[in-house]
Parts: sequence; structure tokens; C-alpha cells
Amino acid sequence: MPNRTLLIAGNWKMNNDVAEAAKLADELAQALPEVPAGVEVLVCPPTIDITTVHDRIQAAPIALGAQNVYWEAKGAFTGESSCDMLKSAGCTYCIIGHSERRAMGETDADVNAKVLAALEAGLVPIMCCGETLEQREAGITDEWIAMQIKLGLNGVSEEKIRRVIIAYEPIWAIGTGRTATPDQAQEVCENIRAVVRKLYSSKNARAISILYGGSMNDKNAFELLAQPDIDGGLIGGASLVPEKFVEIINAANQPTA
Ligand code: PGA
Repeated sequence: MPNRTLLIAGNWKMNNDVAEAAKLADELAQALPEVPAGVEVLVCPPTIDITTVHDRIQAAPIALGAQNVYWEAKGAFTGESSCDMLKSAGCTYCIIGHSERRAMGETDADVNAKVLAALEAGLVPIMCCGETLEQREAGITDEWIAMQIKLGLNGVSEEKIRRVIIAYEPIWAIGTGRTATPDQAQEVCENIRAVVRKLYSSKNARAISILYGGSMNDKNAFELLAQPDIDGGLIGGASLVPEKFVEIINAANQPTA
């Protein structure tokens, strides 16, 4: 099995004003003077907090990402931020197609345009996918996820696919305290890798990082991260509590065998 770096990513969602974000960033920087080998740590604050958080974590081994991006470079797109703007504020990653944004109307075509723009600009896209409870109960999880992946990656070249991170986030597990079991999460992440294998190659499928998200916390992280096809976590609620986030990072560092 290839040694993929485990990415532990905090999605702060719409939490923390500028002062609160500065405090949380300071606490994380203090708690993480270094991160274990083989683990990468990322925080994705609200856009308004990005510059402040960048200043606070500059000396720490913590990467910075945005929660959304727009595909156009500049112009009359009120309320949006371009890839280059995010990069100029210190971001190297960007979450794209989170289910909470899809629920506000973001389409697969939007997600695809954002993924292509991020790759073109040199931002690492974390492309989210996930099924509803109804879809899971109807037995169409694999087909649904495969469709989201194919549409989201449409036009992504063979050379760029390895820079895409895919986050599997079952909608029924987000913010509900109801985590997918490690087996359920592994099964879907394995299927995602198989979809990438079919679209690209075995080599690319082995190289790509797939995260799990949905009520991951300090208690369940170890078992989830021990699964062979889970290469990290996209963490909402628990990323707002420094002790819990650090515990998850420690769980990523534990030998599984
Ligand atoms: P949660 O959110 O950890 O609070 O469930 C995860 C996410 O939506 O990225």
C-alpha cells in the first residue's frame, strides 16, 4: 500500500468572528509546534477570517484553506472570491462542493468549474461528495457517489488528478453525531478509489487522497483513519475545539498494526 500523507482538515464553517478566529488559531498554533511525520494539518476558516488566521498560524505547521471559491478570475460577481484572491491571502487548499453549499443550490457543473479553476490556479481542491439517508436506504449510494465524482472531475487531466482530494461526507452523518461506521466509510471510499481507477489509472487511484467527514471526533477518529482507503478527515464541529482537533491529529499518527 502506498504511504499517503494523512490530511486532518478542520472546516470551521460559519463559526468565529475575527477575534474568535484569532484566538482559536493561536491556540492551535501553540498546541501544534510540530505535527507528526506523515500527517498534514489544515484549517479552513470563514473567508472573513482567512487573513487573520494566516498571520496567526504562519510559524506553525498548519496549512490554510477556504470553504468555497469562484471560478472566474475577477469582475462583477458580488460576494465571491477568486482562486488568486484566496492564494494571495495565504490559502493553498479550498473545499469545493460541500453538501451545505449544494443544499444552497450549488450544482455538479458549478463544482466542476470550481475544481478546474482551483487546479489551474494551483490551489488544491477538496471536492466533497455524499449521499442522503434516503439514497443510502434506497441502495443507490455507490451510483450516486460515482455520478458526483464523474461530473465533478469532468475535464480534469491525467496530470492534475493526483492533486485533487476527494472528501466523502455522508449527509446523514454531518453535524448529527451519527458517524458512518468505519466499515461503511471504508466501503464508500474504496468505491471512490475504484471510480478514479476506471476514469484514470491504478497508479492515480492509489496516489489520490480520500478523506472521510461526518461527525468525526476524538473518540472515533482512530478507527476511521485506520481504514486502508481513508486518508484523513474533514472535521467540522470537533475542529472548533483545540483539544479535540489535536486528539484527532494524534489518532492519525498511531500505528494501525
Ligand atoms: P461535522 O462536519 O464534523 O460537524 O459533522 C463535517 C463537515 O461537514 O465537513
